[in-house]
Amino acid sequence: MARQPRNGALLAALLFLAASLLAAAHGRYDRAYADELLGSAKRDQPWLTSVRRRIHEYPELRFEEHNTSALVRAELDRLGIPYSYPLAGTGVVAVVGSGSRPVVALRADMDALPLQELVEWEHKSKIDGKMHACGHDAHTTMLLGAAKLLNQRKDELKGTVRLIFQPAEEGGAGASHMIKEGALGDAEAIFAMHNDYTTPTGTISSLSGPNLAAVCMFKVKIEGKGGHAAAPHNSVDPVLAASFAILALQQLVSREADPLLSQVLSVTYVRGGSGLNIIPPVVEFGGTLRSLTTEGLQQLRRRLIEVIEGQAAVHRCKAYVDMNDDENPAYPAVVNDETLTLHVERVGRLLLGPENVRVGKKVMAGEDFSFYQERIPGFMLSIGIGNEDVGSVHSPHSPYFFLDEDVLPIGAAVHAALAEVYLSEHQHSSVQ
Ligand code: NI
Repeated sequence: MARQPRNGALLAALLFLAASLLAAAHGRYDRAYADELLGSAKRDQPWLTSVRRRIHEYPELRFEEHNTSALVRAELDRLGIPYSYPLAGTGVVAVVGSGSRPVVALRADMDALPLQELVEWEHKSKIDGKMHACGHDAHTTMLLGAAKLLNQRKDELKGTVRLIFQPAEEGGAGASHMIKEGALGDAEAIFAMHNDYTTPTGTISSLSGPNLAAVCMFKVKIEGKGGHAAAPHNSVDPVLAASFAILALQQLVSREADPLLSQVLSVTYVRGGSGLNIIPPVVEFGGTLRSLTTEGLQQLRRRLIEVIEGQAAVHRCKAYVDMNDDENPAYPAVVNDETLTLHVERVGRLLLGPENVRVGKKVMAGEDFSFYQERIPGFMLSIGIGNEDVGSVHSPHSPYFFLDEDVLPIGAAVHAALAEVYLSEHQHSSVQ
């Protein structure tokens, strides 16, 4: 605080110095910088490819990423990069830079899916029933690539980068556990990327505001009274109660949600009964709720419970609604920070050319990156992997999912540039 004119002059001098440094820093991020960074990343391609293939061959499910985490740490050791471990069981946070503010974070997820890989290729998953079908092997590799690039440039960094390798993005809310264990440190902004098979390799897509849905799952048990189907009056029929409940749920999105704020309610299974002439005592069903706003999801959850309990009661049954928060915790919506959007687009244009920076699309899938965004401004961008020549044309969570490995150096360079340029342009944070 400047209470005296003398301090005011000092402050003005400091501001002038900061502005000059900022101008000098801006000037550094030109074509030559982009070529140098991309060139370094591309020279690392054989290493990146081998890292990614090693992770791909031995996929591990949420919170079991022990070997993947060990591989990440071994590579960081080899690069001479310090890190904290363990966070949330298998998580790793590497630190590169000056050690002081500003601090920016980059994040990758390490977990695979319970799927049998159906792509026949040399580096197919060697673990039956497990597969990196969402490309988190590539995300982890690209972040390691960024660690190497940033470490090569550590004397140029105007602050500190925290590289977060997290477990359990797929349903386990690994991000929330990482945050509780201090993964963010003093970070003031965070970036992540997810691969996107619908856009070509060499492109990125960015979208300000809501990108991915707030998500939760639910399981329902409707309890009635079983009996012979010839004497329904002696039973309390949970089949009918469940049917009415499922139909009534369809009105929530069509009648109660703002049509401009997308929501989804899908019932994905119904189980009940075993004979053609027996009214069962119990019917179970379940599914998922999605909303592009976190508040919308909370409202939908509340109404889901009311509607199911109400319908069950009308039909003389008892409903038990389990929001499945232990197994599948609710995820908030991924909402990209507006100011960071401009940063991502500028860095993307510098690195990849203006023609390769696209406008992203909203998707009703969920991502636990949203937990970080609840704490600090964050941005999740999409990085293209679409390439018909190599067959990377399948959606994530498909047993045919395939990666165009040319994305690896591009993702590493984009990560590194997002962090380095951010630090250079946010020197205010270190003057406190
Ligand atoms: Ni994913």
